[in-house]
Amino acid sequence: MPSDPAARSEPEPRRSRATVTRRGALHRPAGLEPGIDVGGLVDTEAGLVDRAIFTDERIYRQELRRVFAPSWLFLAHEDQFAKPGDFFTTYMGEDPVIVTRDRTNTIRAFLNSCRHRGARVCRADFGTTRNFTCTYHGWSYDLAGKLVSVPNRDGYPGDFETGQWGLVEVPGIDSYHGLIFGTWNSEAPPLRTALGEMTWYMDAMLDRDPEGTVVVGGIHKWVLEGNWKLAAEQFATDWYHVNMSHASALQLLAPKAKGPKTEIVHRTGRQYVDPRGHGAGFPVHPKNRFDAQTVHDWYDYGALRERLGDARVEGPLTNGHATVFPNFSYLPVNGSIRVWHPKGPDRMEVWAWTVLDRSMPPEVKEAQRLYNLRTFGPSGIFEQDDGENWSEVQSISRGFITNRVPLNYQMGIGSERDDGRYPGMTSELYSDAAGRAFYARWKELMTTPAWHEEQP
Ligand code: FES
Ligand SMILES: [Fe+2]
Repeated sequence: MPSDPAARSEPEPRRSRATVTRRGALHRPAGLEPGIDVGGLVDTEAGLVDRAIFTDERIYRQELRRVFAPSWLFLAHEDQFAKPGDFFTTYMGEDPVIVTRDRTNTIRAFLNSCRHRGARVCRADFGTTRNFTCTYHGWSYDLAGKLVSVPNRDGYPGDFETGQWGLVEVPGIDSYHGLIFGTWNSEAPPLRTALGEMTWYMDAMLDRDPEGTVVVGGIHKWVLEGNWKLAAEQFATDWYHVNMSHASALQLLAPKAKGPKTEIVHRTGRQYVDPRGHGAGFPVHPKNRFDAQTVHDWYDYGALRERLGDARVEGPLTNGHATVFPNFSYLPVNGSIRVWHPKGPDRMEVWAWTVLDRSMPPEVKEAQRLYNLRTFGPSGIFEQDDGENWSEVQSISRGFITNRVPLNYQMGIGSERDDGRYPGMTSELYSDAAGRAFYARWKELMTTPAWHEEQP
């Protein structure tokens, strides 16, 4: 496989100059940078991936505009916006955004960047407000993003209209069982279409309770030295690492009566493979159960079978891993939901919440929160193993020779099938099939000019 992406750069497009109209909208024709042809870097039929996709700065910038800008991205949980004025600041790719509930009770999101000189208009992580006032010169915006106050307003020309200088709004906002997603692409398919059959698997965690879900305990945020895709693909496709990487944690959790678990345990299960890049893997067993004892005791598994069906109760209800393309992942066993925020090609910031059934009594919520904290919190006994792996892979990927050796994603090639029990195509639990689908979708987006780019 060729390994120097520069060698595959498309011819430089004709230079186009940014222009500013009298109405104030910045129009910069697309073709910001020559598109890099990543076609040779990902070969999903052969199961090979070139490490340049984890290290190259130009590929990373192309991801921001061709993968993140067009996709539906997880923003927050509806539970974080109980009343008008509640807000939460996050990122879509590297673009800072404010998510808020306006006075009409509509959830909206805006680019968190002042239309004057570009400072963030909200620097708090979350809170409640009536206006977002920029601390640089004092322009102020209401909950609908409208510019409502400009110091020294008389100093501007007569045709200056505040109506033209509101915050840039995220055009697509939708939610699924409490999870709010946004997209910059007004031509994107509806959220449910973009999720496809993945919703059946998501419902195993999000639709256990007719009352819906809540999030508890605030948000954990931590930085890892690794490309965001290392985490996203692992949660899509990788049960394979569990026995080796998490051996010490598994020994710790093994029932004392049986003594320490010293053998590799081969689990039976399935892996969901979605052509939209999503993926989920889960052990299958008639007696699957939640790990936290208090949580296990609280659930009525018979009622869950009636609500969600046997296939889900014996599969993705209690355990497994999942990624919604591109960078939202979750773990049904402890309610961990997380975003892998990209922060350059070799760094990510993990933001993690605990999602729980609304009907759970406080002690059950607390038990699940603590279980999540101990296993997959930033210092959790499993989480640390994963972070160590991603940082390890990343730390050597810049070596010149290292970077010329492709990685192997060949497990389970050709194993995907519709077995009638699960929606869509599934593979074996131990398989790279969803990883190949993840990178196939990534490659499709990376090689297709996004809606904001000039069509050739
Ligand atoms: S940058 Fe916001 S008011 Fe000037
Ligand atoms: Fe893991």
